[in-house]
Amino acid sequence: MRGAIHMLVTTRLSSSFRPILLDFVFPCSPPCNFSIPRRLICAAATKANGGGGGGRSGSIVAPPLLTQDEDFQKIDVNPPKGTRDFPPEDMRLRNWLFNHFKEVSRLFGYEEVDFPVLETEALFIRKAGEEIRDQLYCFEDRGNRRVALRPELTPSLARLVIQKGKSVSLPLKWFAVGQCWRYERMTRGRRREHYQWNMDIIGVPQVTAEAELISSIVTFFKRIGITQSDVGFKVSSRKVLQELLTKYGVPEDMFGRVCIIIDKIEKIPIDEIKKELGFTGISEDAIEQLLQVLSVKSLDDLEDILGGAGEAIADLKQLFSLAEMFGYSEWIQFDASVVRGLAYYTGIVFEGFDRKGKLRAICGGGRYDRLLSTYGGDDIPACGFGFGDAVIVELLKEKDLLPELGQQVENIVCALDKDLQGAAATVATALRDKGQTVDLVLESKPLKWVFKRAARVNARRLVLVGKTEWEDGSVSVKVLSSGEQFQVKLSDLE
Ligand code: HAM
Repeated sequence: MRGAIHMLVTTRLSSSFRPILLDFVFPCSPPCNFSIPRRLICAAATKANGGGGGGRSGSIVAPPLLTQDEDFQKIDVNPPKGTRDFPPEDMRLRNWLFNHFKEVSRLFGYEEVDFPVLETEALFIRKAGEEIRDQLYCFEDRGNRRVALRPELTPSLARLVIQKGKSVSLPLKWFAVGQCWRYERMTRGRRREHYQWNMDIIGVPQVTAEAELISSIVTFFKRIGITQSDVGFKVSSRKVLQELLTKYGVPEDMFGRVCIIIDKIEKIPIDEIKKELGFTGISEDAIEQLLQVLSVKSLDDLEDILGGAGEAIADLKQLFSLAEMFGYSEWIQFDASVVRGLAYYTGIVFEGFDRKGKLRAICGGGRYDRLLSTYGGDDIPACGFGFGDAVIVELLKEKDLLPELGQQVENIVCALDKDLQGAAATVATALRDKGQTVDLVLESKPLKWVFKRAARVNARRLVLVGKTEWEDGSVSVKVLSSGEQFQVKLSDLE
């Protein structure tokens, strides 16, 4: 779609004004979501050389913008499908959630990082046929570069680690809370725009890293009132599949693709899965056995199938023993069907789920020791998780655990006389300088209104600026919880 602005510019040449119609045509793809006044009339006066009028020779006087025929189109007041506004009540909940994400990360000694929401498209293109690739918001910018809104944070993190190179000392423990975009089918807890909390460890090859990451998520759940009877973690390792595929002679470069197909088991009919696996060159026999192994839910049974010597069993055993030591063994269970839908995982993978089985995955992560080399860097062992902001809110609603979060302002400062607005401003500044939050009443309002407002913003005190007290350098303070009222000098107001 293309849009156009017609500008009527009036220039003053010698002594007469001459109107000129300018048409600005701009490309707009995808179609713009805002309306433009169909006619923008703009008056410009250019002072002609030597002409009167007082302006400097040759200068352009800033044109006053006048709109005529204000035939604006009405806009849709809803945000685009799958995106959200955050009015104050929702923003309070978001801040509450993000503060917990951030506090838990800091409790574990992680440092906050961030990346641009807009990245080069190439960063997200991988060969394994992942769903995330088809969900990409991508476009060409004005410089003909292919760019995309990030669907996840991990590729950006990998890019930054490569860019930092040897200047950072390993291991890195980083966290981020960032907006992600996926053109998803909208279901409960899945949006097109969402936020993810990520914690990642770069440079630790041992399972101690995965164990700590799960511990941090458990810590988060406990803080917000979610217990092990509400949620759990299904844990497996990509090495289980790797060992099986090696046994059946499936080439290593097929591994990512096979994982992506298997991850769809609960989403598409099993015959489709078998057909897709067949395309990768796996024999029918091997497919049957593979699918059988995926239904295994105990480590002992897995050991019977794989034997006890492989890395998969060793890693998983170590993780379960560390879970005991961290104190969250009740939260985790082995489930061979967990493979995760992203091609880059190489070892332990895990997903948080609600035990009632009503919601999509709450969070998920795993080890991705070879992601960096896919971007041309040297591989460094890495693992991490992503935790969305949508499913957890659904879960909190289900459990009736959503916090009551009203607005919180400590003081309402109000002038009792409109001549005292300046004095009230001085009082507000004095309190704010002492770190107190103040809602200053900016208009003349009856006391009844002020009390109502105080209740609405959950104020602790009302500070009233009256003529007699102010002449004495004092104000009246009313403590709203007790009704206690007293006069205090401004310099003593704490
Ligand atoms: P993921 O499983 O694709 O993994 O997403 C992680 C979490 O983000 C999901 O479990 C869910 O909570 C949330 N999420 C994903 N898509 C949506 C959506 N459309 N709407 C709402 N929430 C969503 C990753 O993204 C990996 N990069 C995680 C990771 C970090 N692995 C290692 N480090």
